[in-house]
Amino acid sequence: MAVDPDKVDGRQAPRQFAKLSYDRFREMAQDPQLSASEKIGYPDQFRDGCEPAIFADFCNKLPALNRPGATVLDIGCGCGELTRMLIAHCQAQQQRLLLVDSDEMLQQLPGGGDALRIAGRFPEQLAGALGAQLGAGADAIICYGVLQVAFLDANPFRLLDEAMALLAPGGALLLGDIANASKLRRFLCSDAGRHFHKAYMRSESDPEVPAFAPPGDRIDDAVVLGLMQRARNAGFDAYVLPQPAALPLSNRREDLLVTRP
Ligand SMILES: C[S@@+](CC[C@H](N)C(=O)[O-])C[C@H]1O[C@@H](n2cnc3c(N)ncnc32)[C@H](O)[C@@H]1O
Repeated sequence: MAVDPDKVDGRQAPRQFAKLSYDRFREMAQDPQLSASEKIGYPDQFRDGCEPAIFADFCNKLPALNRPGATVLDIGCGCGELTRMLIAHCQAQQQRLLLVDSDEMLQQLPGGGDALRIAGRFPEQLAGALGAQLGAGADAIICYGVLQVAFLDANPFRLLDEAMALLAPGGALLLGDIANASKLRRFLCSDAGRHFHKAYMRSESDPEVPAFAPPGDRIDDAVVLGLMQRARNAGFDAYVLPQPAALPLSNRREDLLVTRP
């Protein structure tokens, strides 16, 4: 069975979750038919209930999240349970939190609280304003599930450059939940991937993974490793890290962690 880039775990994902642009997220945020996870582009089964494990992974990869008084920036925060957990966490830790997303998305979050909400598209509409707001920079920057959007409709290298520029010395940027088509291909060619595919598809057929298939508008190893190298060439440390195996998309997604020495 051929592997379709628009499928999630082999089964056809609803079209509305494929190839989402910034503007499409703005529309989805306002769609009353969608659940909280669907508004941020995840079918419920790939997000609901996983938020505590994702948040624990944030705290492992971004040590400043465990430090009272730290400055935390979330670029493309969405409006789901994960963001609500981050708001509560930062409040409890007396951390300064800045949330960036479209106005339509930010409006879906509960009101009140100390978090500063900044509406607009990063970096095109916001890089300068954010730099001014942050002053000495952010100790932790979360940018989770956003890179594939920038890859589709903007310049992911510029997003990286501008996000790194907002880091305080010693700070860390998590470009997380990067959908990597090369990683998915490797998985589907393994015994584990073949088992997974057959069970999920309820089929006896192996997945078909054509050699040398062009990645199209999907991120692949070349992009992930190119971003890592770009960060290093700009004077930052950068690492590609796995997601915990318990996360639902860990077999095809990974994280890029960038730290300012
Ligand atoms: C897949 S969702 C992830 C939301 C959240 N980070 C999470 O994991 O729960 C991607 C989010 O990034 C936002 N987004 C995409 N591109 C953006 C950009 N250039 N600037 C600001 N927000 C952006 C979308 O509106 C959407 O809310």
